[in-house]
Amino acid sequence: MSNSMKGMSLVTLEEFSSEQIEAIVAQSIELKRKKQQRIFPRALVNRNFCLIFLRPSCRTRAAFAVAAADEGANAQVIAKEEIRFGQGESVKDIARVLGRMFDGIAIRAYDNHLIEEVAEHAGVPVWNALSEQHHPTQALADLMTLQENGIRLCGGKMTFIGEGKANVITSLMVAAAKVGLELRIVTPPGHEPEPSLVDRLLGWSPRNQARILVTNDLREGLQGTDAVYSDMWVPMEGDWDIEAMARDFQPYRLTREAMAMTENPNAIFLHCMPAQHNFETAFARKFPSTIEVTDEVFEGPRSRAIDQAENRLHTIKSVMVATV
Ligand code: CP
Repeated sequence: MSNSMKGMSLVTLEEFSSEQIEAIVAQSIELKRKKQQRIFPRALVNRNFCLIFLRPSCRTRAAFAVAAADEGANAQVIAKEEIRFGQGESVKDIARVLGRMFDGIAIRAYDNHLIEEVAEHAGVPVWNALSEQHHPTQALADLMTLQENGIRLCGGKMTFIGEGKANVITSLMVAAAKVGLELRIVTPPGHEPEPSLVDRLLGWSPRNQARILVTNDLREGLQGTDAVYSDMWVPMEGDWDIEAMARDFQPYRLTREAMAMTENPNAIFLHCMPAQHNFETAFARKFPSTIEVTDEVFEGPRSRAIDQAENRLHTIKSVMVATV
């Protein structure tokens, strides 16, 4: 891979060109293959990374920690209680100090503006580990999972079912516009992404194949697709009327019958996880109407959800290697 990405931050994925995104995905597949053979390029020896998670995380935090260790780097978690952005110390001051000590900073935050401000002042790559608005490392793992299942990034078709204003689908729209994926977004009335965002992304999409279809109709979104992507319908953090929030989504549960609407027996199933697909979680037992996908689909032969979760590791490693 060329050095063209050295020093770059990953805040929204819009910073990266189509070719750079494709190169990150291709390198992720190569790093996965090498790890399976117990080959570790150790490209990040003597590097130090700072992991700041202001919100809970399982996959993303584990991926950053293991990716760093695999490549010979040290990843240091700074607890959210110890780093109080803008409370006792300004964001700019914290960013400048951390940037003098660390070679890269991963942040999971609420507002994306915090990550943008750290990236502006740190002087080292800053990686968005999720915000309310964006989840770019998730989108990279999603692209990798499509590619390793033989689905073309440019010209392939993927259908997302869920909240159309959520961070995951926003980053998927950016990714689709960049690489030329046809993305269908199936969401209840009132949950559609902002039309201005869709127009803006398609306006600059460098790939003619990129299409973003927004529909309330399950069959329209599913017919002929290559991959079906579910996401949770409701947030697990915060104090919300969860049953009320889940009500609009009831017709959109991904079942075997809905998967059949693809009319594509090879269509794969994806999920960014965590997922509500059975009653093994306290959350689903308390709010049974939040099950967004049946256990039959989640555990079925077309499901790639666990591969996709593993691919968080390889794509985050690829981003680290490319940008540091
Ligand atoms: N998909 C994802 O971001 O998972 P975590 O919240 O566990 O990191």
